[in-house]
Amino acid sequence: MKFKISERIANGQTQVIFDMTLASNEIIFEVDSSLRFGLGDDNLNAKTVKKMAISLAQMANKFNLSALFLPTLEVDGFVAIVTQAMANNDYQIQKVGLKNPDENTLQSVTFENGKQSEIDKALAIASGMALARTLGDMPSNICTPTYLAQTAQGLAQEFGLECEVLEESDMSALGMGSLLSVSKGSIEAPKLISLSYVANGSAKPIVLVGKGVTFDSGGISLKPGTGMDEMKYDMCGAAGVLGVMRAVAEMQLKVNLTIVVPTVENMPAHNASKPGDVVTSMSGKTIEILNTDAEGRLILCDALTYVEKFNPEVVIDTATLTGAVIVALGKHHCGVMANDQALADDLITAGKTALDTAWQLPLDDEYDELLKSNFADMGNIGGREAGTVTAACFLSRFTTDYRWAHLDIAGTAWVSGNSKGATGRPVPLLTQYIMDTM
Ligand code: BES
Ligand code: MN
Ligand code: ZN
Repeated sequence: MKFKISERIANGQTQVIFDMTLASNEIIFEVDSSLRFGLGDDNLNAKTVKKMAISLAQMANKFNLSALFLPTLEVDGFVAIVTQAMANNDYQIQKVGLKNPDENTLQSVTFENGKQSEIDKALAIASGMALARTLGDMPSNICTPTYLAQTAQGLAQEFGLECEVLEESDMSALGMGSLLSVSKGSIEAPKLISLSYVANGSAKPIVLVGKGVTFDSGGISLKPGTGMDEMKYDMCGAAGVLGVMRAVAEMQLKVNLTIVVPTVENMPAHNASKPGDVVTSMSGKTIEILNTDAEGRLILCDALTYVEKFNPEVVIDTATLTGAVIVALGKHHCGVMANDQALADDLITAGKTALDTAWQLPLDDEYDELLKSNFADMGNIGGREAGTVTAACFLSRFTTDYRWAHLDIAGTAWVSGNSKGATGRPVPLLTQYIMDTM
């Protein structure tokens, strides 16, 4: 799909006339190939513009329109919001073994004024989201840890990035007993992927860590069968940070960014971890695995120790970590927790700007005490209460040497039901955060 700025309407373009007198999303065709699109008397703001753009694109496709000419409304970021929303709406799920029929007729959108650079940024973010969505929607028999490593290597080739993939033996030599305890019951080889983009001299990098559990069966603490297919989405943190890397590299931002992806499959097997097993993490801290389904934190803790070698300015991990965050916040906000309030504030602000919002949960010592174990430095679960917070408390024990924040995206990375599919979140939030640091 093409987006451009031009004051003139070209041949074959349908002129859109925004009309406050029509109910929201109401649409009227006129003989001279213009269409009136209802805005109602809704307050015009970034959120309503995004909704409007999505329904406009959907209607354009429904009425087989190929090109639109849009007046640029006086709302901050109008061109960027519409471009990103429409480009993201263009995403189609890749069906395994099939070529996608081109269902979308809308091919081009022209704005009467604005900046091409705004369009280009929005398209880079949409491109990062499309990568995240493609990987998320892919079944786990195809999107394995090895596949994610190959995807990272592909990005490295395309954009000239540095890529390193650690194998099981490398991780074993580094003492990553926690990460390897999750992958050991699976036939799929675990990987630890690092990908670096350097465009700001010797400045300390922003480091993003993404949970890459390509399928989470729960392991020996097996999950119930209903809805278990959705655990192919348990690598959406990984997909998200790969998407951010694509967006940043496409925009050629003057920043240093490293992404790190610990990726494994969590399966039950005769050689899988068992409840009560005790493992030693790379940090030297020991962990009693009370529930093999609390596996995300077990792979993240070793990745969070590993990233110290990059001498990070800041570390942000993102993970489909807890079902509890869906209970707490639903599917609207992701959860944010941090050991640095300024960082949490910056992420919340970036989320508002990017229309990809986050809500903060607390990280007090009282919660941390719930991780006490009689057999190791900590257990990997804290009991029924405050599950999102105790998961973050677990991670915070491995992040004491740098500024750190954690985004729990279990509620926001994909939608269930009839329109099941990955959302591409938190690519907009994290990319906006990086742009805001410049
Ligand atoms: N990947 C899941 C979290 C999850 C569950 C995401 C449902 C989205 C929907 C994670 O590995 C997990 O299983 N967490 C457990 C933790 C519990 C055992 C302490 C959970 O949330 O039930
Ligand atoms: Mn799990
Ligand atoms: Zn999981």
